[in-house]
Amino acid sequence: MTPPGPRILPDPEAVARAAAGRVVELAGQAIAARGRFRLAVPGGRTLARLFRMLAGEFASRLDAARLELLFADERGVPPDDPESNYRLAREALIDPLALAADRVRRMRGEADDLEAEARRYEAFLAEPLDLLVLGVGEDGHVASLFPGSRLVGERGRRVAAVRDAPKPPPRRLTLTPRALAEARGVLVLATGADKRAAASRALDSAGDAAACPARLVRGREWLLDREASALLKGS
Ligand code: 6PG
Repeated sequence: MTPPGPRILPDPEAVARAAAGRVVELAGQAIAARGRFRLAVPGGRTLARLFRMLAGEFASRLDAARLELLFADERGVPPDDPESNYRLAREALIDPLALAADRVRRMRGEADDLEAEARRYEAFLAEPLDLLVLGVGEDGHVASLFPGSRLVGERGRRVAAVRDAPKPPPRRLTLTPRALAEARGVLVLATGADKRAAASRALDSAGDAAACPARLVRGREWLLDREASALLKGS
């Protein structure tokens, strides 16, 4: 099946605004259908921009009381560490929207036993996510699924421990391809010239997900800015 084409917007701010619009729209649909909206997010600069947009301009359109926030990945650090994905979400989204603590499913990146933490977290994934938002790394990683990782072929588990991530820190937790595939909606965001090669490798008609894990979500909804889209075939 040919996936729907990516949406190309002028700049990172326009990508964040369009993404916030989709989050609000999909939240409305999930709440109407199932009474709540289960959203999962990673970390990174692209997501930080989306969080600020959701907590600012779009806050009045998001029913935060029905939002359950989960994580796509977490770095192997404590929750107050500047590298923590939870800390970024807390500062830019959770605190500004006043999300209740029991609606936030934090991955405990500081756990000594990341395997046990991955198994604990898996319980939250028994029901599919309504929406998973992903950033893309320059090397083509999504969540903490990196090129060459054996986890790119993982089809049984929904959450896994990572011990050898090439981007520091090496110890992480991540959703697996199974959880990505099961999510009802996936929104992939890529902005800036340093994402050009990864975006084109991910969206090209031929290629290998082991070398570019973002290909796992090739058939989902992509929002790119002009810079990131410059190497796409036909652009
Ligand atoms: C992480 C992230 C990672 C991120 C991408 C994009 O913990 O490293 O979860 O998957 O989303 O690397 O990051 P940028 O938006 O900062 O480029």
